[in-house]
Amino acid sequence: MSGNITFTIIKPDAVSKNYTEAIFEKIEKAGFEVLKRKDVCLTKELAENFYEIHKGQPFFAGLVEFMTSGPIVVAALKKGNAVEDFRATIGKTNPLEAAEGTIRKVYGEMVSRNAIHGSDSDENAQREIRFFFTPEEVEF
Ligand code: TYD
Repeated sequence: MSGNITFTIIKPDAVSKNYTEAIFEKIEKAGFEVLKRKDVCLTKELAENFYEIHKGQPFFAGLVEFMTSGPIVVAALKKGNAVEDFRATIGKTNPLEAAEGTIRKVYGEMVSRNAIHGSDSDENAQREIRFFFTPEEVEF
C-alpha cells in the first residue's frame, strides 16, 4: 500500500501529439485528483538530474535528449494508494508490453517514447514534486 500522493510527467511525444488533455481525462477517470499541474521545458542539466539514477545506462543519453526535445506537463496527483495505482494506470515501461487500456498502451510508441512518467515509490514522488514545484505551489 502506498501513500496518497504521486507525480506524473506527460512526456514530449505525447504533448507534441496533443494527447495531454485526453491523458488527463483518463487520469481523472481512474480516480486521481490533479492537485497541481504546469507546463515545463527541461534543460539538459535538469533532465540529467531528474534521471540521475539511470546515469551509466545505455539509454541515458537518448532519454535526456528525448526529455529535452519539447515541452512537458508535470502534475501532482492524489488518490488512495496513489503510487501503486498510478503505475497500474500507466502500464509497463514498454508500451508494447503494457496491458490493454493503459495510458502507455494507448498513447506510447516504444520504450524510449512511452508518453508518461509515474513515480515508483512514495519517496520518489516527494522528491519529484519538490524537483518541479516550489513549496508555495504545493501547499496541499
Ligand atoms: P525506468 O525507471 O526503468 O521505467 P519507468 O519509467 O517505467 O519507471 O526507466 C525510465 C525511463 O527511461 C523510461 O520511462 C523510458 C526510458 N527507458 C528507455 O528509453 N530504454 C530502456 O531500455 C529503459 C529500461 C528505459
